[in-house]
Amino acid sequence: MNTKTIVITGGTTGIGFACASYLLAQNYRVIITGKNPDNVKNALEQLNHQAVGYVSDTSKLSDINTLVTTIKTTFGTIDGIFINAGIFKAASFEATTEELFDQTMNINFKGAFFTLQQFIPILNNPSSVVLNTSVAVFKAFADTSVYTASKAALESIAQVLNIELANKGIRVNMVSPGVTKTPIQKKSGMSDEAITNLLNHFSEVSPLKRIVEPQDIAPIVEFLLSEKSIPLRNEKMIVDGGSTL
Ligand SMILES: NC(=O)c1ccc[n+]([C@@H]2O[C@H](COP(=O)([O-])OP(=O)(O)OC[C@H]3O[C@@H](n4cnc5c(N)ncnc54)[C@H](OP(=O)(O)O)[C@@H]3O)[C@@H](O)[C@H]2O)c1
Repeated sequence: MNTKTIVITGGTTGIGFACASYLLAQNYRVIITGKNPDNVKNALEQLNHQAVGYVSDTSKLSDINTLVTTIKTTFGTIDGIFINAGIFKAASFEATTEELFDQTMNINFKGAFFTLQQFIPILNNPSSVVLNTSVAVFKAFADTSVYTASKAALESIAQVLNIELANKGIRVNMVSPGVTKTPIQKKSGMSDEAITNLLNHFSEVSPLKRIVEPQDIAPIVEFLLSEKSIPLRNEKMIVDGGSTL
């Protein structure tokens, strides 16, 4: 029986939800978070209430603090965290407003930064942290400037954390998805036609010959969270079907 407890931020839909489902099937204890209460409720129903879920806005330090306190009271310590909550809103560089800049950085970078900082006291020795970044960090896509910056910032701290947190037995690795079919595209403000074109394009150019699905990413995240990957530090698993080659 696997008794490891894993937190997944943004575990209500897409990649986070697929990971929650996969980890439960591998007998992990799973805690998911999300900002939207209905999405948390729906996700827990779809997971047959085998997971525990909390509404927590990752961009608010007070929410993160309450989340950690609640998890500490209920579970004591945890064995890993998948820092996955994130947003993408398509906007050209010239059209990127201060509001979109702050929203994206506050969720994708600041939220991830302080989530990990506040979870450190309840992370076991050893434990594993997985950051969800993006191929956008090394492959240019139009209309993604602030999103790309938020993910590059997140990647940049992984190596520092691996040095600073090593004596606590905490290791940090990354998963870097390519274009993956999830609700993020619809939430991005892209039209249905633009989404279809995007998904078709990446299906065609990919050596995999189909789009990456959230279920493709889940076993890779599980590997990084498990002790199977214990010697890996600052490793970045690019999960894009080869589309950025
Ligand atoms: N899909 C791709 O092509 C792709 C590629 C590279 C990287 N990624 C990254 O993968 C991660 C997951 O995205 P996805 O594609 O699976 O999209 P998704 O289905 O939209 O999932 C995003 C998750 O993040 C949560 N979230 C958003 N804002 C939040 C906030 N302020 N506080 C707490 N939770 C919040 C959402 O919760 P709610 O239920 O409240 O909305 C949802 O559970 C993101 O970090 C994204 O940047 C995605």
